[in-house]
Amino acid sequence: MLDVKDYGIEMWDETKIADFRRTLLSWYDREKRDLPWRRTQDPYAIWVSEIMLQQTQVVTVIPYYERFLEWFPTIQDLAQAPEEKLLKAWEGLGYYSRVRNMQTAAQQVMSDFQGQFPNTYSGISSLKGIGPYTAGAIASIAFNLPEPAVDGNVMRVMARLFEVNYDIGDPKNRKIFQAIMEIVIDPDRPGDFNQALMDLGTDIESAKNPRPDESPIRAFCAAYLHGTYDKYPIKEPKKKPRPVQLQAFVIRNHQGEFLLEKNTKGRLLGGFWSFPIMETDFLAQQLDLFSEENTPLEIKSQKQVFEQGYQLQPVWTDRLFKPVKHTFSHQKWTIELTEGLVEQTSLSNQHELAWVKEEDFPNYPLASPQKKMIQQYLDTH
Ligand code: ADE
Repeated sequence: MLDVKDYGIEMWDETKIADFRRTLLSWYDREKRDLPWRRTQDPYAIWVSEIMLQQTQVVTVIPYYERFLEWFPTIQDLAQAPEEKLLKAWEGLGYYSRVRNMQTAAQQVMSDFQGQFPNTYSGISSLKGIGPYTAGAIASIAFNLPEPAVDGNVMRVMARLFEVNYDIGDPKNRKIFQAIMEIVIDPDRPGDFNQALMDLGTDIESAKNPRPDESPIRAFCAAYLHGTYDKYPIKEPKKKPRPVQLQAFVIRNHQGEFLLEKNTKGRLLGGFWSFPIMETDFLAQQLDLFSEENTPLEIKSQKQVFEQGYQLQPVWTDRLFKPVKHTFSHQKWTIELTEGLVEQTSLSNQHELAWVKEEDFPNYPLASPQKKMIQQYLDTH
C-alpha cells in the first residue's frame, strides 16, 4: 500500500486519529442535514442518490430522487424500465450515460446477483457505472464497510487538513487521498464519517466560500493552523470546453407540428429528440463535397444540404433568432436556428423522424439544448 510519508504527509498518531473521529462525528450528529436518502438503509435507494449527486446539487436532486423511486421502486423495475421513461426520469439532470449505466447495472444485479444488491466492495464495483467513489459511498453507507468515498469534497478537506501538495484535479493523485482516508476513516461508523465530510465539504469547507473559523475540525487542520488555508487544495486550471457551431432546422407543417428527430444511439445525447441539427463544419464539408463532384444537383447552401438529406423542400422564412448557447463539460454549443415551412407530411425513412405538436413535447425525452431551442423559438414568435 502507498505510504503517505512518501508524499510529504505527516500522519497523526492513534490518539489524534481517535480524537479527530470523535470530533467530526459529534459535529455530524448535531448538524447533519436531514436528507431523504439518510432515512433508508436500502442499498438501491442509496445508489440512486449517489449517482444523482455525482454532478448535481442536493437541492436539485431531492425531487428527482423521490420521483425516481416512485417510478422505479425496486431494482427489478429499473432493470425493466422502457428507455423513454428512463430518460424522462432523468430529464434536466444531464450526463445521461449515468442513468443508462444504472439500468445496465440493475440488469447485472438481476442476472448475476439473483436480484440482491451486492454487499461487498468488489461486488459493488463490478456494476456498470460505479467507480471507486460511488462504490465506497454505497459500501460504507448501506453496508457499514470501512471504505473511503473520495470525491472532490473529501480531497479538498484532506488537502487542507494535511497540507497535501498534489493537484486534486489530476486523477493520478487520487490514490494519495484514498490512502489518507483509509487511515483516518472511522471503522465503526464509516458511512457517517464519509457523509460528515460531504456535508462539511459542501458548506463550511466549500471550494468557493469556505468559513474556516466555523469548521468543527479546524484544530486538526494544518493549513488553518499554519495560515496556508488559501493555498489548499492545489488545483491547476482545467481545459476549456471546445466551441462548436451548430445549425438547427425548425421545420413545421401545415398543422403547425414540429419536425423532431431521434438522435443516433451512442452519440452525444443519443436517444433524445431534437430539431434536426448539424454541426456547421459538417454542413460546410458537405457543401464542398457537392461542389467538387459533378452532381446533377445544384447544392449551393446549407439549407439545401438539409433538403437533400431529409427529402423535404421547405419554404424558408427569414425570421431571425438569437443563437442558443449550451455548455457541456467538454463542448460549448452555439446553435443558429432556421425556420422552414412544408406542405408535405410524409417523411424520409433515412432518419428517425416524427411530427410533434407543441403540447406533445412533454411525451418525448428532450435534453437541455433542445428545450432552450424551443424556448427561443416560442419567445421569438
Ligand atoms: N453528496 C454525495 N453523496 C452525498 C450524501 N450521501 N449526502 C450528502 N451529500 C452527498
